[in-house]
Amino acid sequence: MQTIEDILTSVDGWLNPKEAHRLYRLASECKGRGAIVEIGSWKGKSTICLARGSLTGGKAKIHAIDPHTGSPEHSKEFGAVWTFDEFRRNITAAGMDEMVIPHVDFSDAVARKFNEPVELIFIDGLHEYEGVKTDFDAWFPKVIDHGTMAFHDTTGWPGVLRVVCEDVFKSRHFRKVRFTKSIVHGEKVAQNTFAERVGNRIMLCAFLTHAFLERWQWRLLHRYLDFPITRSIVAFLKRRQVKPVPMPAESK
Ligand SMILES: C[S@@+](CC[C@H](N)C(=O)[O-])C[C@H]1O[C@@H](n2cnc3c(N)ncnc32)[C@H](O)[C@@H]1O
Repeated sequence: MQTIEDILTSVDGWLNPKEAHRLYRLASECKGRGAIVEIGSWKGKSTICLARGSLTGGKAKIHAIDPHTGSPEHSKEFGAVWTFDEFRRNITAAGMDEMVIPHVDFSDAVARKFNEPVELIFIDGLHEYEGVKTDFDAWFPKVIDHGTMAFHDTTGWPGVLRVVCEDVFKSRHFRKVRFTKSIVHGEKVAQNTFAERVGNRIMLCAFLTHAFLERWQWRLLHRYLDFPITRSIVAFLKRRQVKPVPMPAESK
């Protein structure tokens, strides 16, 4: 079976190693009280992290939802997109065929016919405000009490950032809202306590500072210091970053 390090290097995608680790942990903490859902699978990198994590937890299958035709920004960059064949190959290579149920469709269409309770959902599909908000509104009611909602790309995409600020950090229905790089996740509850709301607001201040710094770091490297030497240094640091992510079930 592939290690998480193999997945991080061999499967194409945008997931940072620390984010991969976070997804693995979130899935491994599930108790099997509901399904695990992923919106936006691309070529399967995050899907495999969730599936591997779930195997060490409640063993719920991963419902991987993606039309596999890419998002608007991918079409602009790559032209016509079709990722399903590579997605399948990557899932098979990771030995996760039994754990993954692909839905080759748009998230809102799947939401209309999806009747299972959801214990964990990872939202990484459309990144503009309307798309993320539609996903949030469609899937929030399906998430069980003490289930988790997680979002990717919250620091670089203003629409995703707005949804997590308004509907997660400031909501009365989430507690223990935390972030790892660009992933924000929180535990859904019927009603959070005053102390939990204060905790979420403190976390929001820390998150907004982190998001601001991440955006400036990106601007600095991609606009103001975009020279061959800085590109080489960044590529070198990224390669180094891939290695040391211990996964609980693998660090024997
Ligand atoms: C950023 S990529 C996902 C990356 C993936 N989670 C990973 O970490 O490897 C976004 C994906 O969302 C998919 N997508 C776009 N619109 C969608 C929608 N309405 N419902 C579900 N997926 C969608 C795209 O096809 C694309 O594969």
